[in-house]
Parts: sequence; structure tokens; C-alpha cells
Amino acid sequence: MTNSTHFGYQTVAEEEKVHKVAEVFHSVAAKYDVMNDVMSAGLHRLWKAFTIAQAGIRPGFKVLDIAGGTGDLAKAFAKRAGSTGEVWLTDINESMLRVGRDRLLNNGMIIPTSLCDAEKLPFPDNYFDRVSVAFGLRNMTHKDAALAEMRRVLKPGGKLLVLEFSKVWEPLKKPYDLYSFSVLPWMGKRIANDADSYRYLAESIRMHPDQETLKKMMEDAGLERVQYFNLTAGVAALHTGIKL
Ligand SMILES: C[S@@+](CC[C@H](N)C(=O)[O-])C[C@H]1O[C@@H](n2cnc3c(N)ncnc32)[C@H](O)[C@@H]1O
Repeated sequence: MTNSTHFGYQTVAEEEKVHKVAEVFHSVAAKYDVMNDVMSAGLHRLWKAFTIAQAGIRPGFKVLDIAGGTGDLAKAFAKRAGSTGEVWLTDINESMLRVGRDRLLNNGMIIPTSLCDAEKLPFPDNYFDRVSVAFGLRNMTHKDAALAEMRRVLKPGGKLLVLEFSKVWEPLKKPYDLYSFSVLPWMGKRIANDADSYRYLAESIRMHPDQETLKKMMEDAGLERVQYFNLTAGVAALHTGIKL
């Protein structure tokens, strides 16, 4: 029997979700960066800057960026880890990874890339000092399996950083819903010629575990000292946890 899961507000078979998520990111890859800036009014840059600061990357660190897409975090991490470090840009989607790799090359940076599923990481146990995933976990089918994999590849003492959309502060819910379900698909249509992908974005955010639930999921995956920081009134949240 096939298990079912959510793709935004739809209930679909697990395999179908994987294909639908792939379609979304093949479709938006070319316009992904400009859409990010426009739809968040540049806020995603601040959320990522906060994540980079919390990562505390030092020269020589081994870092894995999962669902890294167009490479914002990997680029910043590689600069900080320096020539003695090892920073991987990884994603399950070839179109997104290609845009990311080309962007890094245009910045004169050659870093290892891998096309891989976060639920089955092709890396050894206890290898990385830091593992990050930004706006990726929401799209994964088995989030518990992905979190367990992230923990597995971390060294003891290593830190996991999960940046994701989260549950917005209640008084802002109405205007945020209006923006998400009306303005966002309209922008998606105008800029990326794809309203559906941005409707999926709005729905998938509502279906994603809230701050406390994700904290508990990280603890269940074996991470310790799990904490979270609300960003822009909970529009996004950064969760961090340590492997002890
Ligand atoms: C919204 S983008 C985020 C890209 C980048 N991290 C950023 O913050 O700009 C989400 C990414 O998650 C990737 N993704 C979805 N499911 C995945 C999985 N199971 N394993 C790895 N990456 C996945 C998608 O291909 C897509 O590139």
C-alpha cells in the first residue's frame, strides 16, 4: 500500500509528492533568486545573515549545506571556512543545483556539489562540523528521516541549523494570509510565469510544523540543546541543535 502525505493542501501519494516538488523547483530555478528578493522584500538575506552568524564557521571547518539550491549559504560558508575547509553544496534538484554551481563559479569559487536526497545522504557518519538546511525541510517527505540523517553526518559537538518558514505571530496572521494567497501567486505569475508553484509555497508553509513541534522533532532525532529564534515575528525561524 502506498503511503500518503501532503503536497501543500493536497493529499498525495509519497512518490507523487517527490515528483511534484521536483516540478516546482525545475520550474522556478531560473527565476528563484529574483523571486526570493521580490517576495520577501529582501528579508531572506537578513534571515540568512543571522543563520550564517549563528553557524560560527571557522577556517578548516567541514560544512554540509542541504537543499542548498542556488547556493546563498554555501557561498558564505565557503568564504569563512577558507582553503583548508570543505563546504558542500547539495540538493535533490538538478536545475537548482546547476544554477547554484554556476553562480559560485561566476564568483570564482569552486566547491564540491552533490545531487542527493537529504533522506539518504551519501556522506560518512561523524564527518561535518556544521550541517545547514534553509527553506528545504518543508519540502521533504520524511522529515524525521532527513533530520536523523543530518544528525548522523555531524561530528560529535557539531551543530545543525534549520532555517525555515514558521508560524507567524497571531495578530499578523490575517495580513500575512492575504499577502501569501493573493499577492504571492500573482507575483509568481508575473515574474516566473508560474502562479501554482507560489501557491504551493504559501500552502506548504501552513502545513509545516510550528516552532515548538519542529523543536520536538529535532530532539526526537537525537539533537540536544535545541533552541529556536523567531525571525520577523515568526515568518521564519532558525532552529539549532547540537549532536553530543
Ligand atoms: C526553497 S529552496 C531553498 C534553496 C536555498 N537553501 C535557499 O535558502 O535559498 C528548497 C530546496 O529544497 C530542495 N529539496 C527538496 N526536497 C529535498 C530533498 N529531499 N533533499 C534535498 N533537497 C531537497 C529543492 O530542490 C530546493 O532546491
